[in-house]
Amino acid sequence: MSRKFYITTPIYYVNARPHIGHAYTTITCDTIARRQRMLGADTFFLTGTDEHGQKIERAAQAAGKTPQQYADEISAQFRKLWQRMGISNDDFIRTTEERHKKRLQELFRRIRDNGYIYKGTYTGQYCVSDELYVDGAQPGDPCPTCGRITETVHEENYFFKLSAFQDKLLELYANPEFIRPETRRNEVIAFVRSGLRDLSISRSTFSWGVPVPDDPKHVIYVWLDALANYITAIGYGSTHAGAQDAFKKYWPADVQMIGKEIVRFHCVYWPAFLMAAGLPVPKAIVAHGWLLFEESKMSKSRGNIVRTETILDVLGADALRYFLLREVVFGQDGSFSFDALVQRYNSDLANGLGNLASRTLTMINRYFKGEVPYPSHAASKTAADDAIAETARRTIREFGTLFDQFQFSRALETAWGLVAAVDKYIVENEPWSLGEKNDDESRARLATVLYTSAEALRIATALAHPVMPEATAKIWTQMGLGDIKKLALADLAWGQLPLGTRLGDVYPVFPRADKSAIERMQQMEDQQRVPAAEEKPAAEVKLVAEIPAPIAAQVAPPATATPAVSDKITIDDFAKIELRVGVVKVAERVPKADKLLRLEIDIGTEVRQVLAGIAEAYAPETLIGRKVVIVANLAPRKLRGLESNGMIVAASLEGGKPVLAGFLEDVPVGARLK
Ligand code: ME8
Ligand code: MG
Repeated sequence: MSRKFYITTPIYYVNARPHIGHAYTTITCDTIARRQRMLGADTFFLTGTDEHGQKIERAAQAAGKTPQQYADEISAQFRKLWQRMGISNDDFIRTTEERHKKRLQELFRRIRDNGYIYKGTYTGQYCVSDELYVDGAQPGDPCPTCGRITETVHEENYFFKLSAFQDKLLELYANPEFIRPETRRNEVIAFVRSGLRDLSISRSTFSWGVPVPDDPKHVIYVWLDALANYITAIGYGSTHAGAQDAFKKYWPADVQMIGKEIVRFHCVYWPAFLMAAGLPVPKAIVAHGWLLFEESKMSKSRGNIVRTETILDVLGADALRYFLLREVVFGQDGSFSFDALVQRYNSDLANGLGNLASRTLTMINRYFKGEVPYPSHAASKTAADDAIAETARRTIREFGTLFDQFQFSRALETAWGLVAAVDKYIVENEPWSLGEKNDDESRARLATVLYTSAEALRIATALAHPVMPEATAKIWTQMGLGDIKKLALADLAWGQLPLGTRLGDVYPVFPRADKSAIERMQQMEDQQRVPAAEEKPAAEVKLVAEIPAPIAAQVAPPATATPAVSDKITIDDFAKIELRVGVVKVAERVPKADKLLRLEIDIGTEVRQVLAGIAEAYAPETLIGRKVVIVANLAPRKLRGLESNGMIVAASLEGGKPVLAGFLEDVPVGARLK
């Protein structure tokens, strides 16, 4: 029976369209899964979408859709993208699927029956963006993870006895393989040593979730819901024999890949939930760093995302896959830029592997009628040939070791070391000069040089296959070797290239990219970011100009105010506008929008994100703590891809400079203006 290998990505929230940050995780896992399949493991690769919780419910609301409609749309975008990229996942789980919901409830029951769940009251702070309980925080405090203002939660909840697992978790971390890399392991150990509090695992103030078994007023905490996907997808809690078998076979997972910001959920909560249910814990949780763009983490809320589709359109999936694995030192943050992408593509793919393939195969076509030549007699061999063979053997060993330690960049560096060595070998041995001559000695030498080059090409191509499945499959076919998927990677060795193999059609696999490729990608992204019709830059100015007439008239001199509205309104009309006092908690610039600030404003009942076109008049740091007036019942809208929930009231002076409305006396946050 073959060894099994189970690998997972996090399941992605459906509040944001996929970007290359998500693609980074998915590509890394896909590459590992492909290598494992080539090594003969019975591999199962899982990804999916995380669709419940308050954050999704609110995002759907803002988009004017039901949570299910909204989740359906975005989940489909993820699936479509992975399909287009040829991601080889064996299943795609959605937490809104029946199979998941039932099996999650089964897990909840099991933990409860084992005595690890009790009822209590939670009063404290909650970060909706991270769906995280923030211990020890006070009302108005920011979330330590994302900096957004936490919301106060006061509910009767079910609690999980996390505190009972402190020692068991520390024992688990004694195994250095469990959390990787080491830096993350140390952070987790420190966190757990400092003490664990029981965790609220249900919510009752909203309903977009999976009901708690036997108490449907509550929904299961979204992180318990989400983490359970890793076992529900492969059949945990199912009554079907087939599903149970799959669970027995694949669980525990061999690798659970995550981004570094969700380490606590995966390395503390997840193993504790599993232990409480009497289930084995995964073999390894592996955390990677962030992909940065324009110097900060690529994320929807920052609006600095790059869409994967743009890169696929211009350079193809393999270019992105190679770039991400080669350029980012796994475990650390890495920067993405179109310049660096194109530079890597040209140097390593067009001029590197691609050029080696086309020059070698073209010469075999020209000098040996398209058949792999026989390196004829011993006299035609030199030390240089043996050196290439030796480099190739070492590369196979080192690539495997590095790759299996998640050091993808170094593994690829090693393989490209082989490519560079062969390039040098070809230059030094001048097969084109040998090809001009017709004596037996030169023919024999030419055969050896081209055989050696082709065999090294075969080995580099085989090693790179999991990273660049499409391009390497093409090179393989060009070499006349058939289906690369059938290659048994474990047996890869020097000297297996069959002599006399007929080449297929030879054509460039990585055509060179010029400067226009960079410009095209940048343009495609800029077009995406240029807000759609209703969000054109003019709207930023309008934000201020749109001040309701009565207030504008009070704060601005009549002479410079916007032209008086001729039609009078009734007091009832005015009452429709909900004006409230708020206090600014967070203020920051919006990248690439000179006039816009992103504000988080506490209006007493909740914290609102508001975008205001006041950046030219107010430095963000001067606004923190300042009381402002906001139109609280304005329909949400999007500016620069960010949602604005309300409008800040200001006088609009001639020349466009806004002046914020304020009060001379102290007013409480949340007070209504009427
Ligand atoms: O956290 N760089 O979902 P999520 C690198 N639903 N990786 C990035 C990235 C970036 N800039 N942005 C996102 C969630 N990722 C939960 C997970 S699992 C039971 C529930 C990747 O949509 C990274 O792997 O916020 C990160 O962990 C994942 O996307 C989170 O996606
Ligand atoms: Mg996230």
